[in-house]
Amino acid sequence: MAAEGDKMMAGRFVGSTDPIMEMLSASITVDQRLSEVDIQGSMAYAKALEKAGILSKTELEKILSGLEKISEEWSKGVFVLKPTDEDIHTANERRLKELIGDVAGKLHTGRSRNDQVVTDLKLFMKNSLSIISTHLLQLIKTLVERAAIEIDVILPGYTHLQKAQPIRWSQFLLSHAVALTRDSERLGEVKKRINVLPLGSGALAGNPLEIDRELLRSELDFASISLNSMDAVSERDFVGWFWSCPGAVLCSVPHSLPLLFPLQLAAILMVLKGLPSTYNKDLQEDKEAVFDVVDTLNAVLQVATGVISTLQINKENMEKALSPEILSSDLALYLVHKGMPFRQAHIAAGKAVHLAETKGITINNLSLEDLKSISPLFGSDVAQVFSVLSSVEQYTAAGGTAKSSVSAQIEQLRELLKRLKEQA
Ligand code: ARG
Repeated sequence: MAAEGDKMMAGRFVGSTDPIMEMLSASITVDQRLSEVDIQGSMAYAKALEKAGILSKTELEKILSGLEKISEEWSKGVFVLKPTDEDIHTANERRLKELIGDVAGKLHTGRSRNDQVVTDLKLFMKNSLSIISTHLLQLIKTLVERAAIEIDVILPGYTHLQKAQPIRWSQFLLSHAVALTRDSERLGEVKKRINVLPLGSGALAGNPLEIDRELLRSELDFASISLNSMDAVSERDFVGWFWSCPGAVLCSVPHSLPLLFPLQLAAILMVLKGLPSTYNKDLQEDKEAVFDVVDTLNAVLQVATGVISTLQINKENMEKALSPEILSSDLALYLVHKGMPFRQAHIAAGKAVHLAETKGITINNLSLEDLKSISPLFGSDVAQVFSVLSSVEQYTAAGGTAKSSVSAQIEQLRELLKRLKEQA
């Protein structure tokens, strides 16, 4: 076990750390999920240290094989945490020293937990995002393909919680698919923001060893290198951005947990708000929220895909729900085609609904005379208005619920999915 004197900040204190203080500042129970990416980051940093002449080839080999061993211990679930392990970074380093001796102490040269932790978090989120993206695209695909299969099913569409116009069931499914493609695009945007390497920024002032940050970047597969060390260690914008996506995702899937994300978003914004420059211990609170959202999103997206693919629709009830009143706007449209200004036509249709109500019949059962009493423009061809199929088929403009425009939406979404898959 590491002596108290070996604890990372112990040099600053005389005597041992207060156990309550230790408990308060520890994050190991949460951040041990970063074990794998922490080792990845350390391996890359060790290679850069060797290039900078701080480690010899042999020392590098020793450190790499030690880290390899630790990685194995984590994956087998046999890594033993010590009560003195404050966080994942100190735990891995403590173990490295046990395995390879004092040379382990060279690994942290020019590095700080400040640039280490944000690098780890970004590596973790990069992995998580690609898994989440895959689940999200699967959900979109499920919606699109179901829409294609059930394109002929018609049901009432609602506005203001009122039955309003007949729509294709596929139009409704696709409305969610389209909303989710925006979330997918936003996830891609977050990925871009995450893809900037912070390692090599040190505590705040930068790296004093002329470390090759390009080597670090390519080892860890980041797209670019952070521009400024003080910004790099404090930047958690990508965490906040991550939240704005799942929020939207969850509003549009049926089995959502909409409460969780606003709470987590509020929590992280509270942490970030008003923080002084560079790294502050408050930032330690970011990970719990990230893990929570990652896990919930992964679960919710898979559940939603399951729901959409197995959902049974009740066509009989859908048809029954298509009561003739739902066609009153078609009655107005009929008059528009006969030359009546829309505002007047709208009032006339309202009158027809009212007349049917007072007669205790449905609007399609009004006689031609009844209708003519409202407007002389009504003719015997009004009968064709009362068909839900001809109703939906009127909406042929792009984005509408006519079969041709729903088919076009399906084609466009299939193309979009291909592009989103490439950037995922
Ligand atoms: N456990 C800390 C975190 O999660 C690590 C960073 C602390 N940095 C430091 N130099 N003390 O943010």
